[in-house]
Amino acid sequence: MVIFNELYNFAGFNNFNDLKIFTTKNNLQQHLLQIQDSHRTIGLVPTLGALHQGHLSLIAQAQQYNDEIVCSIFVNPTQFNDPKDLEKYPRTIEHDIKLLEQAGCNVLFKPEVEEIYDDNEQWHLNIGELEHLLEGKFRPGHYQGVTQVVYKLFNIVKPDTAYFGQKDYQQFLIIKKMVDLLKIPVQLVMCPIKREPDGLAMSSRNIHLTSEDRKHALILSKTLNWVTSNFNINNISQLKKEAELMISNEPGVGLEYFEIADGDTLHAANQNSKNIVALVAAKVGKTRLIDNVLLVHGR
Ligand code: PAJ
Repeated sequence: MVIFNELYNFAGFNNFNDLKIFTTKNNLQQHLLQIQDSHRTIGLVPTLGALHQGHLSLIAQAQQYNDEIVCSIFVNPTQFNDPKDLEKYPRTIEHDIKLLEQAGCNVLFKPEVEEIYDDNEQWHLNIGELEHLLEGKFRPGHYQGVTQVVYKLFNIVKPDTAYFGQKDYQQFLIIKKMVDLLKIPVQLVMCPIKREPDGLAMSSRNIHLTSEDRKHALILSKTLNWVTSNFNINNISQLKKEAELMISNEPGVGLEYFEIADGDTLHAANQNSKNIVALVAAKVGKTRLIDNVLLVHGR
């Protein structure tokens, strides 16, 4: 068992609960073996760190249905297609540990890159066209990195259930596809988007927003709300156009895409779509934000 005493020895918090911190697969697996042997269930919440209430809502959901909660914090280099983005990704480990302790999380897995990837490791999992649409177009290679690391985390932790946010809707579809293709024995749960009181979707990247950006960023959730209020199955293309205009007219905001998509294929939605989701990505100042809303769910 590895514990960063010096990191999480915060007055008042170090006795809050018994957060166990592991940096190696072996030590983590040894611990988890005891859980599995005693037929207790494991819930996994994978993250990149810089934790906020959105992440904590996944942990709370996991706690309702599992005996042992593992949160991973790993800034996965293979999913960053832009090295500058990787470099400036927020890293707030001391605060993260504090939050995990307060939340009553049982285990933090915080490996170094070498613990996860071999030198020059390269492989590609064919998950079909989902990988290349929307986010995939703007962040080539991103979902290969996501599938690689989530595959590895599933293999290491062997969770009964893994929790992901609707915030990254396409990511959830891709992970589901991987789990189906490889027949990985894990149940996946998608948790709702946590928002700031004014509607902005919580994100680790929000700390990069200037106060001006922060105001302009609200156009994303406002537009999604407007589309929700005005949605019917016959006005999709009109709504998409108006939404694009609303966002493009906002100063400081560079729209990348706004799509009203079939919730399973992410192609443009149509009359037969059982699920319909509106998804948006935009640069607000220098920060890239994404958001979405479910318009039709399981028709
Ligand atoms: P990260 O961006 O840290 O997000 C970790 C999980 O928290 C994801 O499932 C994400 O959808 C969820 N999440 C983020 N913001 C949320 C919000 N406002 N409300 C609810 N859930 C939210 O997504 C990743 O990390 C990585 O790609 C990962 C899956 C860990 C693979 O490296």
